[in-house]
Amino acid sequence: MSTRPDPGTRTGAFRTKSIEQSIRDTEEPEHGLRRSLSALDLTVFGVGVIIGTGIFVLTGAVAKENAGPATSIAFVIAGVVCGLAALCYAEFASTVPVAGSAYTFSYASLGELPAWIIGWDLVLEFALGTAVVAVGWSGYIRSLLDNAGWNLPAALSGTNHETGFGFDLLAFLLVLLLTVVLVIGVKLSARVTTAVVAIKVAVVLLVIVAGSFFITASNYDPFIPPAEPAQGESGLQQPLIQVLFGYEPTNFGVLGIFTAASIVFFAFIGFDVVATAAEETKLPQRDMPRGIIGSLLICTVLYVAVSIVVTGMQHYTELTIDAPLADAFKSTGHPWYAGVISFGAVIGLTSVCMILLLGQTRVFFAMSRDGLLPRFFSRVHPRFATPYRATVLLGVVIAIVAGLTNIEELAVLVNIGTLFAVVVVALGVIILRRTRPDLPRAFRTPLVPLLPIVSVAASLWLMLNLPTETWLRFGAWMALGVVVYYLYGRSHSRLSRAGGQGRDGARDTP
Ligand code: ALA
Repeated sequence: MSTRPDPGTRTGAFRTKSIEQSIRDTEEPEHGLRRSLSALDLTVFGVGVIIGTGIFVLTGAVAKENAGPATSIAFVIAGVVCGLAALCYAEFASTVPVAGSAYTFSYASLGELPAWIIGWDLVLEFALGTAVVAVGWSGYIRSLLDNAGWNLPAALSGTNHETGFGFDLLAFLLVLLLTVVLVIGVKLSARVTTAVVAIKVAVVLLVIVAGSFFITASNYDPFIPPAEPAQGESGLQQPLIQVLFGYEPTNFGVLGIFTAASIVFFAFIGFDVVATAAEETKLPQRDMPRGIIGSLLICTVLYVAVSIVVTGMQHYTELTIDAPLADAFKSTGHPWYAGVISFGAVIGLTSVCMILLLGQTRVFFAMSRDGLLPRFFSRVHPRFATPYRATVLLGVVIAIVAGLTNIEELAVLVNIGTLFAVVVVALGVIILRRTRPDLPRAFRTPLVPLLPIVSVAASLWLMLNLPTETWLRFGAWMALGVVVYYLYGRSHSRLSRAGGQGRDGARDTP
């Protein structure tokens, strides 16, 4: 570690927590997590959470409504944006190897209020992301049950798109079940995840390999469908960029590819979740960058291949919205493949849901350990060494949200929250290089400050391509977060009690 003290001279809402303090906190026996994960575990974790609703579900809607066969280009764009972000996350994760992802990184570089804002923002990514994926999972299960001739009552089969009423019983039960698994321990979850990821990747490879035999070349014509006026969209549903610059709202064309990229960004969410497990990694300085970048590369290649194959199997106008990969096989007269793919999707979405829930509990745990949320929640279980109180609280709340969720609107809210976190982390890399040049960094982002600046610009560009109403919801959620900080976190923060210096005196107990 550094020999230079990290005085944390700023006070008030911009006081910073020293890197040394962050690492020392993890050594407190009652508030520390067990170090058991390797680089391979992290990569499996990453692939486990990255491949999910994005490729299995959103591909169909995006190809049909925004980009046609050029959806593969949208995946490349979103992949590049995530790659830039991953290079920034990797430096931060290997410098500040403690629980909490972007939250912890910002606390060490930008200050307490920005860190709180990020932690609050990450609820959009992790908690809402868990709910969205649970609802997608429930849809696939119902489709399998339907094959077997069983049907749940409509009132328990999810929110009705027209009336807005209904409860998604299966999504609710899934989140509760995963909560129990996470309370029992990360090692168990990692083992379960490994098996699940193997099945999921096998199914994705099956789509690519088997599907490539059923491609019809004429389906790629036109590869980039020409722009056409958007039907029946109010100003609030238009991408913010189109509203700001007074564009005629259109679908398809080159602008459609960018809209598609801002939606399929969801398919990459999870690369940063690997960073949340830093505190549970045996050799974080070496293994974190390998885990993050490795899983991202694998997923980008698979997504591009899947979208090329699927839009080649079926004309984009005919792809379905609910189960496009399986239905593309049905359209070529191969229902048996469709069944296997649906089954793999169900298994795959389970792991995504579990790791997103894990990410949310770890961010909440880190915020509670810092006193920004009640310290009661940062006690780890005496036997399982997991933050069981935070896990149970979050699991129950998210299960209820999943029961009542409208999947489409929440998915874009997840994207805007995650992109915002990416922006803050990239800025944090630049700031920490200036304020703490002495810190050992196992992984250094290349071309600083150029690469983080490009990462910020690319993420902002995708954000601008999201609907205006998503921006309004995002603004309202963040404003609420600032109010909560000034009412609770500011006065209960351990740093504030220690006089803003990030010193050992901050060791209060719950
Ligand atoms: N990337 C994850 C998914 O596509 C969140 O489901």
